[in-house]
Amino acid sequence: MKTIYLDHCATTPIRGEVLECMLPYLQDRFGNPSSIHGPGKAARAAVEEARERVARLIGAKASEIYFTSGGTEANNIALQGIAMACGGRGAHIITSAIEHHSVLETCRFLQGAGFRVTFLPVDGRGSVNPKDVRKAINRKTILISIMHANNEVGTLQPVEEIGKIAAEKEVLFHTDAVQTAGKVAVNVKALCADLLSLSAHKICGPKGVGALYVKEGISIRPLIHGGHQEKNIRSGTENVASIVGMGKACELAMKERGTESERLEKLRNLLQDLILASLSGAAVNGHAENRLPHVLSLSVQDLMGEDMVREMDKAGIALSAGSACTSNNVEISHVISAMGIPPEQARGTVRFSLGRDNTREHIEKAAHAFVQVIERLKTLSELEDSLGKRRCY
Ligand SMILES: Cc1ncc(COP(=O)(O)O)c(C=O)c1O
Repeated sequence: MKTIYLDHCATTPIRGEVLECMLPYLQDRFGNPSSIHGPGKAARAAVEEARERVARLIGAKASEIYFTSGGTEANNIALQGIAMACGGRGAHIITSAIEHHSVLETCRFLQGAGFRVTFLPVDGRGSVNPKDVRKAINRKTILISIMHANNEVGTLQPVEEIGKIAAEKEVLFHTDAVQTAGKVAVNVKALCADLLSLSAHKICGPKGVGALYVKEGISIRPLIHGGHQEKNIRSGTENVASIVGMGKACELAMKERGTESERLEKLRNLLQDLILASLSGAAVNGHAENRLPHVLSLSVQDLMGEDMVREMDKAGIALSAGSACTSNNVEISHVISAMGIPPEQARGTVRFSLGRDNTREHIEKAAHAFVQVIERLKTLSELEDSLGKRRCY
């Protein structure tokens, strides 16, 4: 039985065309881009072509793109690099409570180093209010970092508005576009973004490669020191094959984004309609309109997300949970908690995220299997309740 993969926010399969253009750089074209001989020059040319392709996806100049080991590193360089370049102790950063851990943990690290951080709340749909951003800015604010779309519930943030506020107040604006680039329109100028993070493996590129956009003229301190690659912002011999793969993935995503996101939105809506028509206790999380077209987050009262994911896996369908069972306790995701979803509902959160290979048949099968799984788990849970041996509560 071939798994129906509905976890594309976690990662995506590498595309054949991407792999094909990477392979020569793992074999014959193995040169180091810093070498001045022929093989080195060929590798350099490939890296620079990829940089052009990445830049084009987000409306940037190639010279504003810095390759990293992924979205996590791009976020770390953006936050720590700006903090070190622009701020001393007491400098202030604004972010939201629902950022990816690579932003949240970096902010906590910076707090430990003497920076002040405001973690803005979100509403029940997972949206940051731009008015809260404006209110939080003070004379010491050096950076605002608000993600373009949330990876758990898919809510798209009002980043254009936030970017404008940042520009008006002369505060730098960073956005984590790991889940949006290649999926919805991302243009650094329209977003007034000074820094923007990307990752290749969310758009059918290889894992372990990403990029940070840094607007021309902004100075940033490196976290990794060494051979001065990537204009000294990210030293270390370039991951040439993966960079080439990222460039190709960006080019393909840019070409197909319009039609693909429309197709996925229809499939996502079908999935949502089929499930809601059969399950009265299920609620959709996130913003109804301002949401990634391929994401559906659902909570089912009195069940465990992890149980749902395990049972769906047995049925040959891969999705992900918004809560984790840890020794007698349930760890609810920080995103779902920040949205104010009550614990009895939050515990039963799962995310479906669709991608290129998904078809209508997959969606119909997944909806059918999900309804069956929920009914089975509810019966089991009622039985466990009556025996007084419910797990994980
Ligand atoms: C919103 C967001 N930011 C950052 C990351 C980290 O990206 P990477 O896996 O490339 O380190 C992820 C990965 O899931 C993400 O969803």
